[in-house]
Amino acid sequence: MRRAIFPGSFDPLTNGHLDVIKRSLPLFDEIIIAVLNNPDKKPMFSVEERCAMIREILPTVKNGNCTLIVDSFSGLTAEFAKAKEASAIVRGIRAVSDYEYELRMALMNRKLEPTIETVFLMAAEEYSYVSSDLMKQVFRLGGRVDGLIPELVEAKMHEKLGK
Ligand code: PNS
Repeated sequence: MRRAIFPGSFDPLTNGHLDVIKRSLPLFDEIIIAVLNNPDKKPMFSVEERCAMIREILPTVKNGNCTLIVDSFSGLTAEFAKAKEASAIVRGIRAVSDYEYELRMALMNRKLEPTIETVFLMAAEEYSYVSSDLMKQVFRLGGRVDGLIPELVEAKMHEKLGK
């Protein structure tokens, strides 16, 4: 049983995240999309809203033999991965600029839980500039983000901001 977690803030889920999920499907039997509950950040969407959106969007992904699960967690990613008996942590890399941060996290997670490997997947070039923060900023300022986030997420952002 090859189980991985794909941790992140997912505030909100972008097409870049979905691209990484799709690429990880053939590699694992089960992937837990692990939504971080971070009390230090002021998110646009609550953890419950983020999980609900992801659950609604995931059926649009053809997942073959891989089971996709959405869960939330607080505290350390490595501890959550261990508690779920996952053997891997999946992270997407968009550009070289992601590498240093991701390397530090992967090495720290390895120090915490040496048996869990971080697996980096390269996101599609078309999403190389897409981040949740950028999507929120552009949306708030009235710019178009269609094609970069799932339609449901865009609709929820409209609802949230009354735009
Ligand atoms: O999508 P993000 O915001 O880039 O995800 C970052 C995330 C959630 C993977 C990272 O902040 C994290 O793992 N936070 C949990 C706390 C933790 O484990 N910190 C040590 C990581 S080395």
